[in-house]
Amino acid sequence: MCGIVGYAGNGDGETVLDVLMGGLSDLEYRGYDSAGVAIADEPVAVHKRSGELTALEEALPDADVGGGAAGGAGIGHTRWSTHGPPSDANAHPHTDCEEQVAVVHNGIIENYESLRSSLAARGHEFESDTDTEVVPHLIEAELAASADREAAFRRAVGRLEGSYAVAAVYAADETIYAARHESPLVLGIGEDGHYLASDVPAFIEHTDRVIYLDDGEFARVTPTSVTVTDERGTVLDADVDTIEWDAEDAGKSGYDHYMLKEIHEQPEAIRTCLRGRVEELTGSVTVEELDDLDRPRVVHLVACGTSYHAALYGARLLRERGIPAQVFLASEYDVEAIPVTDGTLVVGVTQSGETADTLSALRAANRARAETLALTNVVGSSAARECDHVMYIRAGPEISVAATKTFASQQVALAMLSSVLADESSHAFVGALRALPDQIQTVLDDSLAPEVAAAYVDADAYFFIGRGYAAPVAVEGALKMKEITYEHAEGFAAGELKHGPLALVTENTPVFSILTGDDHLGKTLGNVKEVEAREAPVIAISDAPDRVARHADFVLEVPETHRWFAPILANVQLQLVAYWTATELGRSIDKPRNLAKSVTVE
Ligand code: F6R
Repeated sequence: MCGIVGYAGNGDGETVLDVLMGGLSDLEYRGYDSAGVAIADEPVAVHKRSGELTALEEALPDADVGGGAAGGAGIGHTRWSTHGPPSDANAHPHTDCEEQVAVVHNGIIENYESLRSSLAARGHEFESDTDTEVVPHLIEAELAASADREAAFRRAVGRLEGSYAVAAVYAADETIYAARHESPLVLGIGEDGHYLASDVPAFIEHTDRVIYLDDGEFARVTPTSVTVTDERGTVLDADVDTIEWDAEDAGKSGYDHYMLKEIHEQPEAIRTCLRGRVEELTGSVTVEELDDLDRPRVVHLVACGTSYHAALYGARLLRERGIPAQVFLASEYDVEAIPVTDGTLVVGVTQSGETADTLSALRAANRARAETLALTNVVGSSAARECDHVMYIRAGPEISVAATKTFASQQVALAMLSSVLADESSHAFVGALRALPDQIQTVLDDSLAPEVAAAYVDADAYFFIGRGYAAPVAVEGALKMKEITYEHAEGFAAGELKHGPLALVTENTPVFSILTGDDHLGKTLGNVKEVEAREAPVIAISDAPDRVARHADFVLEVPETHRWFAPILANVQLQLVAYWTATELGRSIDKPRNLAKSVTVE
């Protein structure tokens, strides 16, 4: 939801402020309604502004702020509001009354109201509406009792209830103090200092050596050392991991937007997802991480948004393979109403592994003693660490708020998962999976999406229909369209159109119709004819252009494949249509209004 960055070091030619601003720009996808930095000068130098990062850049003093050539320490934050609207005052960092300590925070402090009133009663003055501002005042109060800065930070954090990744700097002290509870925080071990961030892209250009903090852990970061402790201050042995992607991977690589880059990365993402897991010669699927997973009696899939659509797709595959599977919106998952019994596997489908709703559903499943599996993209994420099992989708970093390549990788990973759980595979299945990357490349090379987008940019609304495996992709196509174009878009199971939504269909509501796979094509064509009769433009997404062309104004072609995978190819066309429509409309594609990449509040 929000992005945190911290740096302690001599900057190797850059000021601490430069390093922080670079990190914040790499983290803007986590939140971008306000931003700020604090440098550990005397007093702490805080600069913050509502709006995008450019507003903060313009507000910075011309001269080096603190920590110039001599180095130093500082923290920064990019915000996505939860308590209090975007404003300069509500932007982080927040300070105590005397500007001796500055704090940035990601998450929600649930007991902030009672903390705030007791601090106010003791004379502390607050300047913002945020929950975060209680933290520097708590630290200030603790410091009055004992001068030990680290202990004061630990005691203050000990009083917080809720979820947090929190980092603090004190005046004239080159140390960053940090703590994590249910909100990600990762440390970077560099040559010219050490880093801290809510996500690795913030410092990947400086170092690929990282330590993931666990819930309940604290960190002390100085220019020369990184120390991880528990809540009592006992030093822990922390594992140092190496990140296998670089700054170039996290950049735009010449594309206008991350979203377009990530759409084009799908062939490679799927190759990586499949690597070492499918064997064409034997037609087998082996996912090493799942070796100790037995065939479940029943599967519950919990997820949100795009991941929920992937879960719908995966559940259908599981059911077709004979494993009962149900999908739940994570925020609606209720283990009391739908009890978890012996042999229930609960699968959290989550790109980030940090979505609060999904984590909460997985935690409920853990408490109910279900076996849990995280299907995620982010190594070391909360979901990965808290579940009994984890299967990585290996899509690489996804920066654009709109999920694209991770959806395709989730679908492919779920197809492999269904095969492993049911202990069932075939040459046709594996061969079709292996062919997908090249087929997606064909779609990317030949798509007519820019023409379609230009033709219907003035539409009143956009509808998407699909049947069977294509039904979740129709809903996903609509989600992608609405989130980046801000236009009205709805997706339906094709058969449902006539049960209500048809009333909305007019000559100015294009209907994107997924017409793939022989088994459903005939029925869905029947629904298309209902649309045609209302003179709505029809855009067919099809592997059978000869059969559908006379019913369609445009055909977005996809190569022929196994009937299970045609919707994966169709989805690429729909991603491109959404992207090019948003481009026509001049939207902020990578950072759509009101949305954030990682939704870490319920
Ligand atoms: C839409 C989108 C969101 C996410 C949802 C879940 O493009 O990205 O709908 O899919 O917030 O996120 P994860 O998969 O990280 O749990």
